[in-house]
Amino acid sequence: MGKAKYYITTPIYYPSDRLHIGHAYTTVFCDAVSRWRRLAGEEVFFLTGSDDHGQKVQRAAEARGMSPREYVDQIVPTFKELWRRLDVAYTDFIRTTEPRHVKVVQSIFQRLYDQGDIYKGAYEGWYCTPCETFWLESRLGEEKVCPDCGRPVEWVKEESYFFRMSKYADQLLAHIEANPDFIQPESRRNEVVSFITSGLEDLSVSRTTFDWGVPVPFDPKHVVYVWIDALTNYLTGVGYLQDDEQFAKWWPADCHVVGKDILRFHAVIWPAILLAAGLPLPKQVYAHGWLLTDTGKMSKSKGNVIDPIRLIDRFGADAIRYFLLREVAFGQDARYNTEALIERINFDLANDLGNGLHRSIAMLRRFCDGKIPEPGPAEPMDEALKALADSTVRAVDAAVRSLHLNTALVELWKLVRAINKYIDDAQPWTLSKEGRHERLGTVMYHLFEALRIEALLIAPFLPTTGQAMWEQLGQEGQVLDQGLKAAAWGGTRPGTVVKGGDPLFPRLDVDQVLDELARENEERESSPAQEAKGAQGQPKAESKTTKDEAGSDDGLITIDDFAKVELRVARVVAADKIEGADKLLKLQVDLGDEKRQIVAGIAQHYQPEELVGKTIVVVANLKPAKLRGEISQGMLLAATDNSGRLSLVTLEHDLPAGSVVR
Ligand code: MSP
Repeated sequence: MGKAKYYITTPIYYPSDRLHIGHAYTTVFCDAVSRWRRLAGEEVFFLTGSDDHGQKVQRAAEARGMSPREYVDQIVPTFKELWRRLDVAYTDFIRTTEPRHVKVVQSIFQRLYDQGDIYKGAYEGWYCTPCETFWLESRLGEEKVCPDCGRPVEWVKEESYFFRMSKYADQLLAHIEANPDFIQPESRRNEVVSFITSGLEDLSVSRTTFDWGVPVPFDPKHVVYVWIDALTNYLTGVGYLQDDEQFAKWWPADCHVVGKDILRFHAVIWPAILLAAGLPLPKQVYAHGWLLTDTGKMSKSKGNVIDPIRLIDRFGADAIRYFLLREVAFGQDARYNTEALIERINFDLANDLGNGLHRSIAMLRRFCDGKIPEPGPAEPMDEALKALADSTVRAVDAAVRSLHLNTALVELWKLVRAINKYIDDAQPWTLSKEGRHERLGTVMYHLFEALRIEALLIAPFLPTTGQAMWEQLGQEGQVLDQGLKAAAWGGTRPGTVVKGGDPLFPRLDVDQVLDELARENEERESSPAQEAKGAQGQPKAESKTTKDEAGSDDGLITIDDFAKVELRVARVVAADKIEGADKLLKLQVDLGDEKRQIVAGIAQHYQPEELVGKTIVVVANLKPAKLRGEISQGMLLAATDNSGRLSLVTLEHDLPAGSVVR
């Protein structure tokens, strides 16, 4: 029999310079499952990536005066850096802009069109751009806001291709019925079932109002709806239409791990597309809950930090991994705040785990010259520790296989605490004082053998910590290369010399750390240099920050926040194209007491000559940025509508250049 194999995916992430600690959950989750299964001897394909296309991305790029490609090319490396810093070992990182993927999207679209499953029609309806989702009027309420994100929806009317999703409703229901594990947790499965039984409509699968997407092969004024583009990444990633052998090996996926917000796309639209394309369905879609802060959505408040890089810098990747995996229960939401994170570090990591190891090594050095002794006859308490180590391996394995990673850690920490209790009960110091050397040898052997197994079992969740423990215990090689068989009792050779080392996790003073972080937050907010940076240190120059970028608690700013922005009237003196940048113009503007150059992404809306002489409004105190080698000393204000039209903000009556706008 060949090696068992497992294909697991995260969703592909929207390029954004504001990834927060909540985003990291899905990826860390998949990484821990992958590492555990690899330890268990399976071959694992772990796919993640970026969802480069779509109107949301195009708008974000425009707001920054960049082309969408420039924008995504700048952001995607910061994702990879974040995953590297979090010790995420993916097999492949796919970007939807890659040619291998564009080919897959176009081929599936063509196939469905050829067989009559995609047809041309017209769409009129309410659309939420940030969520890239159409909504029925009945779902919107009086305020006409998106039921998912709460932001205003827009009325859109356009020619569109439609996918005959309705045709697959019965087949899909039958599949869900016959495969109880297909959608997990069960409560989510029930939601999906009632959604389908309430009536599936055909799905609009192309757009004409923007062009940042995969062109429909037979009608290139349409681009493929971003979700169809995105979902098919799971096929491209394992070689669909490029490497038949590879594809046959890995498809269907074993598990798509997704946040609960995007379950419907994965459990309804995606299987319907696959049914139409005649491809097998993934074995499982698991929807996890969300990490929320005390104010509800992910946001920072006094002392609270949600920027994953800042958190890793301060607390280390394993502390973050532990918190995420321990705190989020199967399918449930969980609360995040920095104080809770510090408490987990202090109690579970510094005290239970780190201190347990540290004191064991100190005792071995004191009583046994740092060498693990030969065990003598075991007593019931020793047998009980051994039995617990054995049953923990099985419990963690079962928990990981059913995706209950928090249960896996709860089980593991039962062993961690049992080891500490074993020390307290066996009292090696008394045995040493009383000269009971054989008993001391048995106790120390059992203690160090349990610690060795603990290090091995912890490593898939906390790779750096597992390896550090392994080395401190005097074990050789890479812990994760040992295989789960190394968890069998008896792997420690008597005579092994422990190496010891620094405590795994320092104990933190909660108040002191929170104060420091609050001060750091304030400094960042008051320093313009820091303010112009996104969560991962990306320049956020000229951004029109949207509410979903997790900026403040409730999306509202104070009058003082607003007063930081210096808006002034400016007269356009000259305007020119920029070689090689078809969206950018460079303007020379008069601000009354000074002249400046501003680079703006308006070339597709204004000819340079029609701008000269116009009176516009600019942000005068923006940190200068270089765009396509041209310095931009400010940003002009413009409005855009849903169809991408743009209009400069001008003055109703002419006022002198330099006048203050407020
Ligand atoms: N691009 C789509 C996915 C396409 S997959 C074919 C997308 N991207 S995302 O960047 O918005 O989200 C990526 C993942 O992060 C999703 O699983 C989402 O649920 C998850 N999370 C975003 N915020 C989160 C929390 N606050 N907590 C936990 N997970 C969160 O959706």
